[in-house]
Amino acid sequence: MTLATMNLTPRVGTEIKADAKALLSGSAAAEIRALLEQRGVLIVRNIGLEDAQQLALAKALGTVRFGTVRKETQDGNVTVDKESEDGIFKVTFDKTQNPMYAEYLLGTFCWHMDGTFEDVPPLASILTPRVLSPTGGQTEFANTYAAYEDLPESEKTFLDGLEVVHTMEANYREVVPNPTVDQLSDWRTYPQKTHPLVWHHRSGRKSLVLSSSSTQVVGMDLKESDALLRRLKVWATQAKYVYQHQWKMGDLLMWDNTGTMHRVLRYDLECGRRLHRVTLIGEESLAAA
Ligand SMILES: [Fe+2]
Repeated sequence: MTLATMNLTPRVGTEIKADAKALLSGSAAAEIRALLEQRGVLIVRNIGLEDAQQLALAKALGTVRFGTVRKETQDGNVTVDKESEDGIFKVTFDKTQNPMYAEYLLGTFCWHMDGTFEDVPPLASILTPRVLSPTGGQTEFANTYAAYEDLPESEKTFLDGLEVVHTMEANYREVVPNPTVDQLSDWRTYPQKTHPLVWHHRSGRKSLVLSSSSTQVVGMDLKESDALLRRLKVWATQAKYVYQHQWKMGDLLMWDNTGTMHRVLRYDLECGRRLHRVTLIGEESLAAA
């Protein structure tokens, strides 16, 4: 099947014209996966999927994640928290809807990639809006393939082989500048991970691995490392690599977590804004060259 598509910016984001029946049949799954990798973000307007349909679409595209590895105890055991029993995670600060994870969402206001505390980050996520914010709340996506591909060759050579330490504490540095002792100790239960700065994908393409969790380049002077990571984040989030999504009820949005960063623009935390997210399990290790 060939989908009708329209690019939303030259480097990132494509709108698909399709109805629920066509998408849920699975006949377009291979095409959607290829488009996700090429374009980073796919949008379908006015489709109005319900939870069961959103899950069915996700199952047609990959393997749905029903929990997330999030904690490492002091003796090194990893516990798996059920982020969502049914595969639907409610992205909201409304604690009646999202009692366990609301405060973790503060990190979503900073540019990040999901799953930098895992060896195999999620492949993609699928979002639908259920309650809109009156102002703000636009979600932005930056194409980290395009940002890498445009770097000068000398810089690509310099970056290749560098590794970066990722921590949960770094994730919240900007949004929670004065954490409590409890917050700090909770963040430190997350595994600290070291990942390559340039992801060599199985496809042969390469992308930058940047996130608010990026703390320090291994073996590099701290000042030099901060300057490099800041410079690359500014580079990768230039307007030409970014698509900003203005939510409307009925939207469906899918993004490739392995080749983009994302963030949400500030909105009133009390306004009840809620999106439903289904996440697809990753298929490719960050460490694989
Ligand atoms: Fe996220």
